[in-house]
Amino acid sequence: MSASLAAVAYIGATILFILSLGGLSNPETARRGNLYGMVGMALAVLATVFGPRVTMAGVPWIIGAMLIGGSIGLYAARKVQMTQMPELVALMHSLVGLAACLVGFASYVDTSIEFTGAEKAIHEIEIYIGILIGAVTFSGSVVAFGKLSGKIGGKPLLLPGRHWINLFALLVVIWFGYAFLQAHDIAAGMTPLVVMTVIALLFGIHMVMAIGGADMPVVVSMLNSYSGWAAAATGFMLSNDLLIVTGALVGSSGAILSYIMCRAMNRNFISVIAGGFGTGDGAAPAAAGAQPAGEVTSVSAAETAELLSAAKSVVIIPGYGMAVAQAQHTVYEITRLLRDRGVNVRFAIHPVAGRMPGHMNVLLAEAKVPYDIVLEMDEINEDFPATDVSMVIGANDIVNPGAEDDPNSPIAGMPVLQVWKSKTSIVMKRSMASGYAGVDNPLFYKENNRMLFGDAKKMLDEVLGVLKG
Ligand code: TAP
Repeated sequence: MSASLAAVAYIGATILFILSLGGLSNPETARRGNLYGMVGMALAVLATVFGPRVTMAGVPWIIGAMLIGGSIGLYAARKVQMTQMPELVALMHSLVGLAACLVGFASYVDTSIEFTGAEKAIHEIEIYIGILIGAVTFSGSVVAFGKLSGKIGGKPLLLPGRHWINLFALLVVIWFGYAFLQAHDIAAGMTPLVVMTVIALLFGIHMVMAIGGADMPVVVSMLNSYSGWAAAATGFMLSNDLLIVTGALVGSSGAILSYIMCRAMNRNFISVIAGGFGTGDGAAPAAAGAQPAGEVTSVSAAETAELLSAAKSVVIIPGYGMAVAQAQHTVYEITRLLRDRGVNVRFAIHPVAGRMPGHMNVLLAEAKVPYDIVLEMDEINEDFPATDVSMVIGANDIVNPGAEDDPNSPIAGMPVLQVWKSKTSIVMKRSMASGYAGVDNPLFYKENNRMLFGDAKKMLDEVLGVLKG
């Protein structure tokens, strides 16, 4: 493939990536967006492998690597449960970071292209920054993977003087960067490069370990952004324009997502990075929390069906438990049945419900729930006082009134769905256990709240049975 044909293919791929991002911004066009992304990526890979910068001798190696990598990716994607998607995404981010590190070291020891003067300095700065971002992304994403999969506890690790440790690490990185640029040969430059890589790896671990359960959504989108910048840095090192543009698109869209997440949680980005928000252990039952207040009223599936039948307006609040139970199809069957009977049923989506951005939207779209009855928190929060029944399905932190009422709550200040303002709220979950942030939920003890204990799918099947009967 000639250089000009490859350049045209790159421009085509860039346009497809931009269209893909545009499509992904709305559930109705998300499928098309994904398709644009896939076609763009196929075009980009073909133009690179058969482009002017790869010699024929290299092609079998690349195809071999693609077959191995592609098979692992295909196997992982087919095998992964919907609830494990966030962990898989974190793992993928870590690979982008690792690739940036490896490309950085390879291009430093590669002597086939001679750089001199300012060009040499620019190339070395690209390598240094590329490895720095790559190493932070790699180790941070591995820890995020551990936290999201429950292999590492949600409790933040808050070392004494951690801000000073971070500042010291930054100064050391700058100092070694200077030493790296002054090095006269590869052997002399290798020591500062390796020291910086180790510090960056430790910093990535330290940064994500210090983050509490409740802040994980921001961290997920932040690492997404970092992986984009790592890819862009790789593009600079390899002088590959497409990689620079694609990396910048991922980096900036991830940064916008982090901003949206911060706003949704009423947090500022710096305090997220500083760590500590949502300090509980996600596995701790609420009974072991600080002040389990009062008694809970439990209901049966039949009583739930009765409440739903008698209601004029119902709001359904799905959370992580709905994903675990895979209850979305039954939820929609109940919705259809009630709507056919004239009940106004709508869905309320909290921006951090589930374990990844848009988690609930994906599940509801899979169950073919019409988009016009799926509303964002800001659109529906005012409607709760006029709602007869709010049905909370496997959600917890996102409906915790403590976020509004209790200034000492670890999630104080986070906007939540105000289900307690409706006439009756029903919380469907298996036990009194806390949610991801590890915080006790006063909603369970409110007078107008009912608890329907059990697996969400099983209980909803029973509710559906009674409604049909
Ligand atoms: P959570 O607060 O985690 O609560 C989920 C609840 O679902 C749990 O209390 C659990 O209680 C219940 N549950 C689990 N399996 C169930 C099943 N099979 N049937 C019925 N219930 C089940 O979820 P949420 O309200 O969606 O809030 C999300 C939380 O995750 C927030 O703290 C958020 O910060 C965090 N987070 C979000 C993201 C993104 S990007 N969305 C990323 C990382 C972390 P039982 O065990 O008693 O059943």
